[in-house]
Amino acid sequence: MAIAPSSLKLTPLGIFLVLFLMFSSLTSKTEAYDSLDPNGNITIKWDIMQWTADGYVAVVTMYNYQQYRHIQAPGWILGWTWAKKEIIWSMVGGQATEQGDCSKFKGSIPHCCKRDTTIVDLLPGTPYNMQIANCCRGGVISSWVQDPATAASSFQLIVGQAGTTNKTVRVPKNFTLRAPGPGYTCGAAKVVKPSKFVSPDGRRTTQALMTWNVTCTYSQFLAQRTPTCCVSLSSFYNDTIVACPTCACGCQNNNTQPGSCVEGDSPYLASAINGPGKSTLAPLVQCTSHMCPIRVHWHVKLNYKEYWRVKIAVTNFNYRMNYTQWNLVVQHPNFDNLTTVFSFNHKTLNPYGTINDTAMLWGIKYYNDLLMVAGPYGNVQSELLFRKDFSTFTFQKGWAFPRRVYFNGDSCVMPPPDSYPWLPNTASKSISPFSLQTLTFWAVLTCLLICV
Ligand SMILES: *[C@@H]1O[C@H](CO)[C@@H](O)[C@H](O)[C@H]1NC(C)=O
Ligand SMILES: *[C@@H]1O[C@H](CO)[C@@H](O)[C@H](O)[C@H]1NC(C)=O
Ligand SMILES: *[C@@H]1O[C@H](CO)[C@@H](O)[C@H](O)[C@H]1NC(C)=O
Ligand SMILES: *[C@@H]1O[C@H](CO)[C@@H](O)[C@H](O)[C@H]1NC(C)=O
Ligand SMILES: *[C@@H]1O[C@H](CO)[C@@H](O)[C@H](O)[C@H]1NC(C)=O
Ligand SMILES: *[C@@H]1O[C@H](CO)[C@@H](O)[C@H](O)[C@H]1NC(C)=O
Ligand SMILES: *[C@@H]1O[C@H](CO)[C@@H](O)[C@H](O)[C@H]1NC(C)=O
Ligand SMILES: *[C@@H]1O[C@H](CO)[C@@H](O)[C@H](O)[C@H]1NC(C)=O
Ligand SMILES: *[C@@H]1O[C@H](CO)[C@@H](O)[C@H](O)[C@H]1NC(C)=O
Repeated sequence: MAIAPSSLKLTPLGIFLVLFLMFSSLTSKTEAYDSLDPNGNITIKWDIMQWTADGYVAVVTMYNYQQYRHIQAPGWILGWTWAKKEIIWSMVGGQATEQGDCSKFKGSIPHCCKRDTTIVDLLPGTPYNMQIANCCRGGVISSWVQDPATAASSFQLIVGQAGTTNKTVRVPKNFTLRAPGPGYTCGAAKVVKPSKFVSPDGRRTTQALMTWNVTCTYSQFLAQRTPTCCVSLSSFYNDTIVACPTCACGCQNNNTQPGSCVEGDSPYLASAINGPGKSTLAPLVQCTSHMCPIRVHWHVKLNYKEYWRVKIAVTNFNYRMNYTQWNLVVQHPNFDNLTTVFSFNHKTLNPYGTINDTAMLWGIKYYNDLLMVAGPYGNVQSELLFRKDFSTFTFQKGWAFPRRVYFNGDSCVMPPPDSYPWLPNTASKSISPFSLQTLTFWAVLTCLLICV
């Protein structure tokens, strides 16, 4: 087959420029607003169920309305500042981390006397008399798509030295939500229509005496300065493996930060894992050029007549974290014709109702929903089968690679578009290099001959 490498010389630069502009407008690392989940938020609902002699009984529930961002172990930490001199007499399904100074109380001692209250969930296995519905999961909350049944977390508290009517009660201020690191910003509590509760048999509805809501939203920018994940690429039509960008999540620097990473075969690995920082959330990563805790690899694997196939692999380089209930969000124009995902769960996200070019992928329960610590089991993988839409499908110009990838809701660093594996030159001299249709035709033909 006659291939004239010189005939394409003109186009690559132009193509790269267009691609580069396209991609740089698509990927903005600092966005506070998540365009793939524009309504995503955690809503804290505070229902007053009963007035008491000196305050009230309330049930506080956090609903995670985020499609793909969950809170994993060690779980949420909720804080607020009381408006007056309120105290917590007792709690069920959660606890204050500090009791504070209750020295002026005689007789029964309150659970918490601090003005700045910090609450955490109880652990699984809590005695039944300390539980309420939706509690005691160690502060873990699923994302809305992965498991709506566990996407809420509740606790009950008995508040004293508080208002005892809906006129005198004061809403707490300065709600903070940590997960358990920073990232969430909470608005002010707003008194809303009292919640209604339908009895299990559906024959009676009761309602809260008073309800207020607080909405908290996430920003990756607030959460951390450095990315936590990167993307590498390869294809059947080119031997080049495009690695994660060097220093995508940090650089190896043994002079200023010794021990910023460890070698997988290092005899000191065990002591490094248990060394200083053991209980912190800071990742301890395997030494790589990218230094990311997570790498997502996208391999364009096969080309069929009507379909094409991608292999996707997620590798954990963090020695300090088993990722439970991990998830990926991937944007690629062919997700509107995703045919099969072989060993992950998936759901097409449709944030704007019209274009569904974004899909969420997550592990199958008890099979690969746990991404183990770095090492021989520290990876999960699956294959995706897409049906070709011949009006858009091409292996040219890096089209077969994802536009955006998120791991656990945080966007991953992509390689620069001009490094993407190239389809070997396919245009011959007789074909105008500007005709896309002919290029695609030759691409498909070449592939049929070379790659299959
Ligand atoms: C929070 O999310 C819910 C569910 O998506 C949505 O109905 C609500 O409007 C959101 N709240 C805010 C303040 O964005
Ligand atoms: C307070 O309770 C009264 C009835 O006791 C009710 O009319 C009023 O709407 C309530 N106000 C709020 C803010 O819930
Ligand atoms: C709430 O937070 C704001 C800003 O962070 C601060 O100025 C204010 O003093 C805080 N209020 C209370 C009651 O702590
Ligand atoms: C308050 O939050 C609850 C739970 O998310 C929700 O059902 C209710 O609609 C919210 N109320 C308002 C006014 O946003
Ligand atoms: C940093 O230290 C690790 C482990 O001691 C070593 O494997 C790595 O090569 C060093 N990196 C540099 C850039 O010196
Ligand atoms: C990860 O999970 C394995 C198996 O459940 C466990 O042995 C290991 O201690 C866990 N590691 C961390 C860092 O949580
Ligand atoms: C894309 O969205 C359309 C309309 O919302 C829906 O009919 C179609 O099944 C979706 N495609 C996939 C692959 O989910
Ligand atoms: C791909 O999906 C789009 C939108 O859902 C649909 O209009 C189109 O017909 C599909 N193409 C194929 C080849 O199935
Ligand atoms: C494979 O892609 C790389 C760009 O990543 C390019 O430099 C190389 O020429 C391509 N190989 C072939 C055989 O086209």
